[in-house]
Amino acid sequence: MRQAGRSLPEYRRARRNESILDAVRVPALAAELTMQPVRRYGVDAAILFSDIVVPLVAIGVDIDVVAGRGPVVEAPFRGPDDLARLRPLEPDSDTPYVIETVEILVKELSVPLIGFAGAPFTLASYLIEGGPSRSFSKVKKLMLEEPGTFDRLLDRLADLSLASLRSQVRSGAAAAQLFDSWAGILSPHHYERHVLPASAKVLSGLADLGVPRIHFGVGSGELLGMMAAAGADVVGVDWRTSLADARERVGPAVAVQGNLDPAACLAPWTAVQAEVSRVLDDAGHLPGHVFNLGHGVLPETDPGILAEVVRMVHEAPPAPPRP
Ligand code: CP3
Repeated sequence: MRQAGRSLPEYRRARRNESILDAVRVPALAAELTMQPVRRYGVDAAILFSDIVVPLVAIGVDIDVVAGRGPVVEAPFRGPDDLARLRPLEPDSDTPYVIETVEILVKELSVPLIGFAGAPFTLASYLIEGGPSRSFSKVKKLMLEEPGTFDRLLDRLADLSLASLRSQVRSGAAAAQLFDSWAGILSPHHYERHVLPASAKVLSGLADLGVPRIHFGVGSGELLGMMAAAGADVVGVDWRTSLADARERVGPAVAVQGNLDPAACLAPWTAVQAEVSRVLDDAGHLPGHVFNLGHGVLPETDPGILAEVVRMVHEAPPAPPRP
């Protein structure tokens, strides 16, 4: 999950104070930052050090990632004229540093590397709101006022995410995660009409590559069935929905990922331990569960607690084979 590294002193030392967008452009540094949480915690997979806005920046959209805030867009998207600002991504020439980072990691890592991209709706919400938002009023307004423009915007963003993910997988990433962090602010009706087609385009566009496709959202309990049907092999679930309910919603053919509350990791170990047990119990100790946090690691988290969480999950009795 995002920001496992931020809790680590070695991360803060290596990152120095440059923008994350500059750090991503230095493959040796990005590879090191990817590997730090794997070394420290012994997790079973690595997630590429990059950001969801990297492909947008690479095609010339003026975005900065502001510490403590998130992505901020210099000139937010307002209407149909802005579509011209999104040209297709050519990964070989636009993001060669991402490809190089993946290539280094595939050689160095002893665990699989997860590549990722932002889902069309989450990218669109930054482009339209101009930055992080509480109400998402501008993005909802454009969706209802100019549905044609909105749908075309999401379709272009789908092409961008798909091109980025395909290049990461071609370079050696063993799984692809699509982050639709803010889809949970939508009603199921609007999600189905305006967002699902674009996310399905990304996920189905990866099918021929044969890697597991993970589809993640926050507060998206009501959308889990559709997020699975979009073409996911795994659906990420936050702590608001129990994994038992999530399994019912995604069906037996799709795995669930999650869903320890990151804030729970700030409590003393005995409390954390009880929370981890509950997540494992909710998942039914059955195959098809990827243990994870429900969202990103909070920077103030004690690395010792996360190490204990990983140890406890590894020591949990192995799941019986599926009947
Ligand atoms: O943790 C990792 O190093 C994995 C790589 C990763 C990052 N961003 C690096 C990052 C991943 C998978 C992301 C995805 C991402 N970025 C998402 C989707 C996942 C989610 O959390 O919902 C979103 C919405 C973003 C946009 C974004 N980038 C936000 C909201 C922030 C936080 C700003 C802050 O400081 O609180 C960022 C910055 C960012 N991206 C950081 C990292 C490690 C932290 C700041 C830094 O080190 O510069």
